[in-house]
Amino acid sequence: MTIETVGVVGAGQMGNGIAHVFALSGFGVILTDVAPESLDKALTTITRNLDRQVSREKITAEQKDAALARIRTTLDIAELGQTDLVIEAATERESVKQSIFDSLLPHLKPETILATNTSSISITRLASRTDRPEKFIGVHFMNPVPVMQLVELIRGIATDEATYNELIGVIETLGKTPASAEDFPAFIVNRILIPMINEAVYTLYEGVGNVRSIDMAMKLGANHPMGPLELADFIGLDTCLAIMNVLHDGLADTKYRPCPLLTKYVEAGWLGRKAGRGFYDYR
Ligand code: CAA
Repeated sequence: MTIETVGVVGAGQMGNGIAHVFALSGFGVILTDVAPESLDKALTTITRNLDRQVSREKITAEQKDAALARIRTTLDIAELGQTDLVIEAATERESVKQSIFDSLLPHLKPETILATNTSSISITRLASRTDRPEKFIGVHFMNPVPVMQLVELIRGIATDEATYNELIGVIETLGKTPASAEDFPAFIVNRILIPMINEAVYTLYEGVGNVRSIDMAMKLGANHPMGPLELADFIGLDTCLAIMNVLHDGLADTKYRPCPLLTKYVEAGWLGRKAGRGFYDYR
């Protein structure tokens, strides 16, 4: 099949980045969300990030205008009936994803591939509750999507070979590199990255270092582009906690227990950059 139009569900930081890279690579994009202000904010962010690429001479002004012209936003999920591939990029909560699939599936063409950008939840379980487990796949982009090279590709137990091969081609068309991961909690990147971030929060909790010294240690001592606490704020502390819970529940090993300080920050609504406050203050 030829994928020409892609639906993206969820206009948050992952959804707007996914819409950005698909539109820039020539796909038509229909971006949907339940909140009109999220769609407006997504278009502002995409425009700003495309401008950044123009100013760094990565793309031309004409490419930017063409990409923006390919993105349509809508509050009506039924409009995704016109798409060949849908990528769900909503909040990392299984119940939210489930209700999106319930309202989306009646509108989709039978041949449309349904993908989820989940960063940790079982693809097999999500797929089993849809009408197309063989055309269901995990496509996990990294943040910031326009910059990061890797996309994890995760097959559920029923995903067919044609769907997998189609997505390999799509990811390569985006100029990105696919990495296959088996369907186990948090796949590869987050199985390794999020426990490291959780350990950094324990390091803070136990007073081994303060926020700045922990981040500086990992930037200068391990050559990470961002310190782990800065990165946690960037990813979102709620997302980090949700992934730790998936690891803890799914692998039943106490080494994955979320740090109580991480839980406390999430309970306070200190979710990182998007909330204006996390380990750092952005206000
Ligand atoms: N859109 C487009 N381009 C962007 C961008 C965005 N949102 N953010 C940064 N860029 C571009 C810049 O234009 C710049 O491009 P050039 O190098 O071509 O000039 C480049 O990225 C570097 O940006 P800056 O110079 O502004 O800033 P920086 O050097 O500090 O890099 C960073 C910023 C790329 C975010 C870097 O700090 C980094 O790589 N951080 C780690 C990111 C990371 O680990 N991501 C994975 C998170 S885990 C995840 O996503 C999985 C999950 O499920 C939780």
